[in-house]
This record gives sequence, C-alpha cells and structure tokens, in this order.
Amino acid sequence: MNILILGSGGREHALAWKIMQSPDCNKLFIAPGNAGTAQCGTNIEFSVNDFEAQKIFCLQEQIDMLVVGPEEPLVNGIYDFYSKDEALKKIMVIGPSSHGAQLEGSKDFSKKFMQRYQIPTATYASFDESNFDEGLSYLQTHSLPVVLKADGLAAGKGVVICQTTQEACEVFTEMIRHKQFGNASKKVVVEQFLDGVEVSVFVLTNGHQYKIIGHAKDYKQIGEGNKGANTGGMGCVSPVPFMDSLFFNKIQSRIIGPTIKGLQEEAITYHGFIFFGLINVQGEPFVIEYNCRMGDPETEVVMPLLKNDLVTLFCNMHENKLDEVAVEYDERACATVVAVSGGYPGAYEKNKEIQGLPSNIDKQSIIFHAGTQSDSAGRILTNGGRVLAVTSYGESLYSAAKKSTDLLSGIHFDGIYFRKDIGFEFF
Ligand code: AMP
Ligand code: GLY
Repeated sequence: MNILILGSGGREHALAWKIMQSPDCNKLFIAPGNAGTAQCGTNIEFSVNDFEAQKIFCLQEQIDMLVVGPEEPLVNGIYDFYSKDEALKKIMVIGPSSHGAQLEGSKDFSKKFMQRYQIPTATYASFDESNFDEGLSYLQTHSLPVVLKADGLAAGKGVVICQTTQEACEVFTEMIRHKQFGNASKKVVVEQFLDGVEVSVFVLTNGHQYKIIGHAKDYKQIGEGNKGANTGGMGCVSPVPFMDSLFFNKIQSRIIGPTIKGLQEEAITYHGFIFFGLINVQGEPFVIEYNCRMGDPETEVVMPLLKNDLVTLFCNMHENKLDEVAVEYDERACATVVAVSGGYPGAYEKNKEIQGLPSNIDKQSIIFHAGTQSDSAGRILTNGGRVLAVTSYGESLYSAAKKSTDLLSGIHFDGIYFRKDIGFEFF
C-alpha cells in the first residue's frame, strides 16, 4: 500500500517508524514531516489543511491510506472531503468524520455526549454571550478551584484552572467578551476540578468495534517536580503502575464501552483513534477530555510498545474485523523524554544546529524527531519548541527514563532543555 501521513511532530515520526515496519507498506510519504520522518519515507511540502493539494498528490502517487496525525484537519472535515470525492473515496482514511472529531473540537459537544451516556466526568455548565451574566453568577457559588475551558480548539492552551472566584470571573470575561482564544472561546465550559492522577488510554475504533492499543502518562509541565507552565508534553511513561486489571475494567465498562455505544447509536462515522484523557480519582476513572487523534508525546511510547502491525490493524478496523484481532504489547517498560528549545513554551529561537545525534544506537532507544529540519548541507536544525523525543525501553520505568536522559546528555543544541525526572513518582 502507498501511505500518506499528515503532520510534522514526534507523533508523526513515531507513526512513520511503526508503519514503515509493515510488509504491507510500499511507499510512505509524510506531509510536511520533519528531519526524522525523512529517514522513514519521503517528506512532501504541503500543509495538513490543504485538502486540494493533497488530492492532486494522492491521485498522482496512488495513495491507498491516509493517516491523519493532528486534530485540526479532522475537525475541518478531511474525512468527509475524502469520502465525498469520487476519486478519493477509495482511500482508507484513518481519522473520524468532522462530526466524530467534535469529541475534541467542542468541549460542550463532548460534555453533552458524556452526559447522554452517563460517562463519568466532572460536572459542568456551558455559557456564551447569551447567558453571560448567568455564568458570572454561577461562578460566584462554584467550589474552588474551578476549571474554565474554551469550547473550541485552542492549540492546547484553552484550559485555565482558577484558584479564586475573582480570577475565574476575569478569565471567563476574557474568554467570552475579549475572545481570548478567538472563536474557540465564544463558548466556555465551566467545570468542577477533579483531583487525581492523569492517564491516557488510546483506542482504535470503527465506531462499533474497538481495541485498546496502549496507554501512557504524560508530564505536561515544563519544570521538574511538575512545576511551571503547561507544555504540549515533556515526556511520557508506559505502562503506568496503577493501571491494573481492576482499573482497566472500570475504564472499559464505564467509559470506553459507553463511548463506542454512543457513536453507534448516533451513527457518528468514526474510523480512527480516540484518546481518552482520564483522571484517577481515588481508584475511580473520570474523563477529562476526548481527543480524536493520538497524543504527542504519548505516541512515542505507545507505538514502540505495540507489537501488532499497525497497517494490518488499520485494515482490520476498516474491514470490521477488529473483534478478531488480539493486541499484543511489549512487556518492557518504556519512557520518552522530550528535549525542547530554550524559552519553550514561551518564545524560542529556531535554526539551532543539533549536534551529537548518534547515527547508530542500540535497539534499546529510538530518537524521534519533532521540531527538526535539515538544511541543504545536510545539517539537522531545530524547527520548533519540542525538538526531539528520545524513547527507551527498560526493565523498569526508571531504567528506561535514565537511558533516554543519558542519551540526551550527549546531544546538544543551543538552549537545549529536558526534564530529568520523567516518571519520578513511580521510581
Ligand atoms: P485539556 O486541554 O482538556 O487536556 O486540559 C488540560 C489539562 O487541564 C488537563 O490535562 C488537566 O491537567 C487539566 N484539567 C482539565 N480539566 C480538569 C478538571 N476538570 N479537573 C482537574 N484538572 C483538569
Ligand atoms: N500530550 C497531550 C496531547 O497530545 O494532547
């Protein structure tokens, strides 16, 4: 099969690394990709949202399968664009319809969906300009901390946890009246704060059958000890020690099962990943959020631990044969540590040369690229906030994470920073 992956992060490098191992993968393209994906296939220069450019390319290269990395094209209707086009509809698209992508694209949609199927989640109310004053009154009596979420996509920045009522009212006003996140914050979800440990579970589904392909815990804050500003993710570990069979059974029976049932009952077209962002509150799982794609850097541990051929799994999903598949996982522990540009998640510089990238490493580690590009002289330069995600296997989470930090200690670019404590609470 000829396969096109859309996206340019560590997630897409991990997907490309996995897909290229499949005997069913003939030509592999990544658009726009990064210096790492260029080692797995051919990078193509077009934007993930330029559906017309993709169409020309897909027909020219006889693409059979399209794997969509980020959420934006999904929310923008890429699945629907392909399925409605006579020439493109035979291409297997891995990703939900725009309706399905609303699970991530609208917090209000996802909260209502969870309510309809009694899926455990924080209590909430939604507000916009039409009931703005009611929202301010609602905040006056809400317990603290209180969580405010922009309804739409806000590049991972749309959630604010407010410690005081005054702060909550200010953020609420900023979001709705001053369009802090543009149209994404026209509507705001006000939510109860849940106190617990977060974990993410990844499912591949065709809207009625599903398979869990992995789980992970990510570390969102920039500083060690989970301090400082939120980022896209500074590292991940898997498996997570508290994910025992009891907790997994609760997640499946109370959350994943009812979610798939909801998709089916509402005839929502979904052929892709669901990322269940969960929180463990004293042994009980609650949904913090749904995403309609894989996570980054979660993919950088989920793919290395997944033993199945991913292309076969995608085909099984499309052929309604997921129930016949047994998913197998590597039994080792796995950790990924993300190296970022100095200043991230604030302003940072690009085009710093990355030195010390080993050309040959043992099979215990994999260097996934995120924000990287190569120049005409073949040098590899930084090209984003998150630059590399170094994944390692180990006998324990500690030894896996240590292998990654040791490897990163030998890699250098101006301003490089990474956390040395990924997985710390499980050591
Ligand atoms: P999201 O953009 O929905 O992933 O939210 C970003 C982060 O905010 C989550 O990963 C949590 O750490 C935190 N968060 C969101 N909702 C809640 C909640 N109801 N209670 C506690 N923390 C939350
Ligand atoms: N690491 C969180 C995300 O991909 O949304």
